[in-house]
Amino acid sequence: MERTMLGRFGVCTVFALTLQVCLAAVTVNVIPKVEVIKGDTVQLTCTYITTETASSFVVQWFIEIAGARERIAYWQSKGDAGVDANTLLTERLTLGSDKSITISPVNVEDEMTYYCQVTGGPVGTSEGETVVKVFNAPEKPMISGNNQAITVSHGSAPSSQVGKCTSRNGHPEPRIVWFKDGKPLPVVKDQKEKTFMIPSVVKEASGLTTVTSILFMQPEKADAKSVFHCTVEYSMPRDQTKQDSSETFSLSLLYPSENVFFKLMNQGPIKEGDDVDMICETDGNPQPEISFYQVTTPEDKKLPASAGKLVLKNVTRNDAGNYKCEAEDFDAVVDLVKTLSFSVHYLELVEVDPKGPLFPSQGDAVELQCKTQSSDEYTLKWKKDSKVLSQNGVLSFQSVSLSDAGVYICVGAVPSVPGLQKQANVTLTVKGKPEIDTPVDVFIAKEGGLITLNCSALGFPAPQFTWTPSGKESVTVMGNKVISRIMLEATSAVLKDGVKCEASNEFGMDSKKFKVSIKTEPVTHEDANAANRGNPMFKTADRQQAGSSSVVIAVVVCVLLLLLLVAGLFFLNKKGKLSCGKKNKKDVASGDMKGGIVVEMKSGEKGNEESGLLNKPNADQC
Ligand SMILES: *[C@@H]1O[C@H](CO)[C@@H](O)[C@H](O)[C@H]1NC(C)=O
Repeated sequence: MERTMLGRFGVCTVFALTLQVCLAAVTVNVIPKVEVIKGDTVQLTCTYITTETASSFVVQWFIEIAGARERIAYWQSKGDAGVDANTLLTERLTLGSDKSITISPVNVEDEMTYYCQVTGGPVGTSEGETVVKVFNAPEKPMISGNNQAITVSHGSAPSSQVGKCTSRNGHPEPRIVWFKDGKPLPVVKDQKEKTFMIPSVVKEASGLTTVTSILFMQPEKADAKSVFHCTVEYSMPRDQTKQDSSETFSLSLLYPSENVFFKLMNQGPIKEGDDVDMICETDGNPQPEISFYQVTTPEDKKLPASAGKLVLKNVTRNDAGNYKCEAEDFDAVVDLVKTLSFSVHYLELVEVDPKGPLFPSQGDAVELQCKTQSSDEYTLKWKKDSKVLSQNGVLSFQSVSLSDAGVYICVGAVPSVPGLQKQANVTLTVKGKPEIDTPVDVFIAKEGGLITLNCSALGFPAPQFTWTPSGKESVTVMGNKVISRIMLEATSAVLKDGVKCEASNEFGMDSKKFKVSIKTEPVTHEDANAANRGNPMFKTADRQQAGSSSVVIAVVVCVLLLLLLVAGLFFLNKKGKLSCGKKNKKDVASGDMKGGIVVEMKSGEKGNEESGLLNKPNADQC
């Protein structure tokens, strides 16, 4: 505020000679409004302009308390200056050399008007006013008194306290706003309304303000899902409005049940052996006591259950039927009962007729039947070694053979009920004279080596084996076959006549001859496999030895031939008598010679390869 007071020579005519003479005055300049946060520092400046130089000036700072002015600081152009003692501000005030005052730290009670008064002899007295505004952000609002459960009641019951919102230490006084589901609730103070607020304001000793608002409501059942919170709105410098929100909270409402829900939790069809889960609950709060019954005649059977959950473990077909759930809510106006029912799918044990084990003779007719029963449509499949042989539960053989021996499994299943499956099996043993598998010819590197032969025979009772000539024998059983393995020396007699395997039991005998021959060529992969079929890991030590020694011989012969060739070429070159064409021919011929040692190479390829190698030096010469 600026105010100009006219001095002694203030009354003056428009015809005055100069402005200075005419308007003898002092003009005081201050900042009209200063905003500061509590605890900060504020400086209030005061300057003045005069129309005439006066011999002395006095600057004084005042505040106004209870309508009376009190000086807080002064300055004299001639004389001393300082802060007045025993004022509200004495301890926190400093006077600058520029006649400004500084308050630090600022308190709430410093919020008032400050006057800077300037007095100068001839120019009179003038003053300026500065209004200081102090701000302090309040604390985050806190919710309390929201822990009680509220009973939802219809009619004219009094409103209940929903919660109390408190925000401490604000300045200027902040405002509390309540929110329900994010929407502000209009401020209602009339306590006859259903929803209203009771506000209160407390001035703290510090001068700050604590505001509180208690929200009252008549909650409805739907409010159980609502969230509430409050915010505090407060002012800050430069006309800013800020806000801070409390945590949200929900009401714990009590209301009677109106409906009951009874659910089967199992997914898909229920089969014997399953656990069945049932859940029963109401739309009331809290959940009332819930009882489960199996509906039976003459009277229902109460079942043990806990917290609205019924579990039937390992059900059987006898557990199928109706179940009842009853909620015991004394506040409810309706009967709270629901029923549900479920069926239990089952498959009886699969039975095989005849039971087995069976011992038919080779050529007999055999019929296997498989039976079961089920709550639903089912399938019956006969399988052997996971191969399906029949789809209708009957498996018949007009004439069984030795190879039909084995374990037959009948699998019963209900396709509409996943996992509902049972099975039975029967072992079929076919009696008959032995049958030896066609033998595999055996090759050996040289006479005298050790050979291993496998003789595999069907037949029951298990055949006895006789080898001619005999050797070191071992017998193993694989499925419906018996295998005799023999290891013996490949003598000249063996190479000439072969080895005979004879298998016999009470029904007769079978015999097969194994041919043993020498094979000089390196053993190819195929040969090795053929010789050891039935046991690929097996390889005679002799064979390996023979193989490696023939390689050594081949290498030595090759090296010798090459040496000879090189020597020959060298000799011919020296003489210089051979034409190019002739020379090539000779080379090819020597290639062929070499080829005699390498067993399975075609002579055409060999010739090309060799001439390719040897042509190079020749080409140089031609
Ligand atoms: C056959 O049935 C018996 C008895 O049920 C069982 O112990 C056995 O494991 C079954 N065999 C096969 C191959 O399924």
